Amino acid sequence: MIVLGIESTAHTFGVGVITEDEILSNAKESYRPEKGGIHPRKASDFLASRAGSVIRKALTTAGAGMEDVDLVAFSRSPGMGHSLRVGSVAAKTLAYEFNKPLIGVNHCIAHVEIGRRVTGMNDPVVLYTSGANTQVIAFQGGRYRVFGETIDMGIGNFIDSFARYAGIPFPGGPRIEELAKKGKYVELPYVVKGMDVSFSGILTNLRQKLKKHELEDLCYSLQETVFAMMVEVSERALAHCQKKELLITGGVAANKRLREMCRLMCKERGAGFKAPPMDLCVDNGVMIAELGLKMHKAGVKGEVNIDQGERTDEVEIKWR
Ligand code: ATP
Ligand code: FE2
Repeated sequence: MIVLGIESTAHTFGVGVITEDEILSNAKESYRPEKGGIHPRKASDFLASRAGSVIRKALTTAGAGMEDVDLVAFSRSPGMGHSLRVGSVAAKTLAYEFNKPLIGVNHCIAHVEIGRRVTGMNDPVVLYTSGANTQVIAFQGGRYRVFGETIDMGIGNFIDSFARYAGIPFPGGPRIEELAKKGKYVELPYVVKGMDVSFSGILTNLRQKLKKHELEDLCYSLQETVFAMMVEVSERALAHCQKKELLITGGVAANKRLREMCRLMCKERGAGFKAPPMDLCVDNGVMIAELGLKMHKAGVKGEVNIDQGERTDEVEIKWR
């Protein structure tokens, strides 16, 4: 069975083509604002302008035509309304024009499902750390439950905001990781509330320290502090759910220090630790195809209306 998946929740238009056994292609284009944050209309204009070429590229690389595709999947939730609409229109147009079944999927759960597929981990706790999202997710009682999450901004947005104050261009993560290697510790607030984390106060604190400390020291302390917060919550989720594996995903999973801290924590408690390849950690169409495939095979008739706010634990999981 050949599935074409379309990702379009924020700034990436991604198209993946897969079968049960193989990932055939993973094409994408991402909107990058020259400065500042993402303007919803500009992002969606960009996605719309690239949709056709990304779909063609994914099919060509896969060596398939639309007539070979058995199912069209798209990210229907959660995300920015303007962006979601672009992927939804593209998916519906393909499905209706070529008379293919259509299925809408939840973006966050798609990150989890592609992680399970490519790492072979069956029942991990998932640390999903991206620009807009920071969640610790585990499967319990028929749902993907969010055991801990950010109560304000996502970790990547936090890192990028600090970078912007420090004059580091977007995306700030990789440069901050480099600078951190030469830094030493400066005390920062450590904010874990129950199982949730919060970054906005730390951001304010870092901003106030900008002129008074070396940038390397602030980058080092930022990483040590916020990564420890997320590792703490992940460890407690592992213990509470009695799970034996941790999977990390999202763009911030590129960070070597974060991986090292996760690996150490897991080693100490005898748990496994893995991450998917980076092109499947960031937003991509392959993960949408993978979740569409699993839902379709389980007989789920996925919703096809977009939903900007659907939460991870609102989705009934019939394929596990
Ligand atoms: P989502 O829609 O799932 O929230 P996103 O598109 O906002 O995803 P991603 O593309 O998954 O986010 O990740 C981008 C983020 O990853 C940026 O905030 C970037 O700074 C961060 N990032 C990338 N590389 C690193 C790194 N080495 N260390 C820390 N952060 C990093
Ligand atoms: Fe994402």
